[in-house]
Amino acid sequence: MPLALIWNFNCGLSCVEPKKNFWGEGGGASGPWPSPPKNHMPPERLQKFLSRAGVASRRAAEELIRAGRVSVNGLVVTEMGVRVDPARDVVQVDGRRVQAEAAPLTVMLHKPYGYISSRRDPQGRRVVMELLPASLRGRLYPVGRLDYEATGLLLLTSDGELAYRLMHPSRQVPRTYRVTVSGEVSQGALRQLREGIELNGRPVAAEVAVKKREEGKTVLEISVWEGRYHLVKRLLEQVGHPVLKLKRLALGPLRLGRLARGAYRPLTAAELAAVKAEVGLK
Ligand code: URA
Repeated sequence: MPLALIWNFNCGLSCVEPKKNFWGEGGGASGPWPSPPKNHMPPERLQKFLSRAGVASRRAAEELIRAGRVSVNGLVVTEMGVRVDPARDVVQVDGRRVQAEAAPLTVMLHKPYGYISSRRDPQGRRVVMELLPASLRGRLYPVGRLDYEATGLLLLTSDGELAYRLMHPSRQVPRTYRVTVSGEVSQGALRQLREGIELNGRPVAAEVAVKKREEGKTVLEISVWEGRYHLVKRLLEQVGHPVLKLKRLALGPLRLGRLARGAYRPLTAAELAAVKAEVGLK
């Protein structure tokens, strides 16, 4: 199936490649395209549309397309390069209609103690989604995990590509935690953490500073560049200091700041631009 044919279903035989842009801007009033309706989304690549709709990352969406699981206006698409108009084209994955919101939403939540960082919990424990209004619960997905007893910055987004990139180890997005550990952390232990501790056959280095020393406890600020399961706890366990308390203060360029425990807020435009730039998205 030639790609242009798939894309042109909506406009029939009169549809030709625009000279200047999709809407014929610059081509004069005689162009074959109507004025764009208000809020109309320009056409976009099928895999981008699928990731924006939260179906999968762009790369995984490409695999869905290659596997013949995606159709546009009733026809299966297996090649890359197809563009869709979110307002007009009917996109289906495994026969189910997929719709993407006009603009993805990303919020920062201050996760309190005693919540699971997922959409639901088979064991019936409280989940972070309960801290959001019902209107957002169906749209947003947590970006990575904070442990049940951990607190602090948790990002939730409807932007599949942003989530995928933030979590991908190759992006090395820094995560900074304030951690209270048992015992008095020695200079030797700090050096070991900075030089790298071997976990599952691979060394993981951290940036670490002592913030406070108390009777039998030490408060540290520690940054790591990946989001492996229980990473901070495992690193500190390896140097003999079990974690008592863990709070995420920052993720890439985002700071928790004074956001109240249990509260959430959308990212500002500047924060969104910064976090996208961090992972190579515009
Ligand atoms: N490292 C951990 O051990 N737990 C978290 O929740 C986050 C990082």
